[in-house]
Amino acid sequence: MKDITLRNGMKLPWIGLGTWQITDRTLMREIIAGAAANGYRLIDTAAAYSNEIAIAKAIEAEGISRKDIILSDKVWNSSRGFSEVQNACRRSLKKLKTDYFDLYMVHWPASVKLHQDWREINAETWRGMEQLYQDGIVRAIGVCNFKRHHLEELEKTAKIMPFVNQIELHPGFEQKEIVNYCKSREIAVEGSSPLGNGQILSNPQLSEIANEYGKSTAQICLRWIIQKGAAAIPKTQSTERLRANMDVFDFELSEEYMKAIDDIPYCGGIGIDPDEVTEFG
Ligand SMILES: NC(=O)c1ccc[n+]([C@@H]2O[C@H](COP(=O)([O-])OP(=O)(O)OC[C@H]3O[C@@H](n4cnc5c(N)ncnc54)[C@H](OP(=O)(O)O)[C@@H]3O)[C@@H](O)[C@H]2O)c1
Repeated sequence: MKDITLRNGMKLPWIGLGTWQITDRTLMREIIAGAAANGYRLIDTAAAYSNEIAIAKAIEAEGISRKDIILSDKVWNSSRGFSEVQNACRRSLKKLKTDYFDLYMVHWPASVKLHQDWREINAETWRGMEQLYQDGIVRAIGVCNFKRHHLEELEKTAKIMPFVNQIELHPGFEQKEIVNYCKSREIAVEGSSPLGNGQILSNPQLSEIANEYGKSTAQICLRWIIQKGAAAIPKTQSTERLRANMDVFDFELSEEYMKAIDDIPYCGGIGIDPDEVTEFG
């Protein structure tokens, strides 16, 4: 049970490495080395994280073969449009010293609040994403933070719908509607901020369940996401926690506990509404 199969047959691991807020090169090398030693293959970055070069250097220094990792990157909001997205992808490829991405995603939909023509902007950006896919530069294309209305609009013009929607997903933000919608469209869900950016780990209900299973609250969060059928990309800068976050395949949450976690009220969200996101995030 180590992979999700995308609609095009590509395999996506259930657990990957989140890298947001890690920019220090020495730290990045330690993390990438620890991740490789603990069986991580998926590395998630974005042009906006300013760490693509640090990741490339770490991969090179650790002697990790490109074919042994799944590199996932994202185009930033300032590069929307057919040509812009392709140029941005090529810039990121250069920084990561690779000639392809396994997964390339639109980081945020054009904000409904900011752009009257958000439909057209998303459609044109997506046409550029499809071109990258057709040109064999990326093995799969996806979106992040797309709500149902963004996907429904995209469906009107897209030739290939996204293979993945990376959305904030954790016990404090169940996102039931969009998760179910993606499932109905065979769009794999990848949970970002799966630990609520660390803010939900002291939740008393999660602690109680963690005690019951002899696991940590972080492991309960990750297991809950996996049992929802989604992948998760926790970020940590500790080698010990890297190991722990991968150690979630030897237990199963009961239906009763899954439901109890579903019922945890909203908490720990990163608090950005995709309909209101600015061009700066
Ligand atoms: N597409 C998007 O718009 C979007 C948005 C947000 C995030 N993401 C992606 O999702 C990834 C993860 O989200 P995130 O970085 O917001 O946070 P997260 O993974 O939800 O939580 C990270 C926090 O939890 C702590 N932590 C990690 N493992 C732990 C463990 N086993 N026990 C206790 N604490 C633990 C980390 O501290 P230490 O580092 O000290 O361990 C850090 O403070 C990002 O790095 C990024 O790749 C994407």
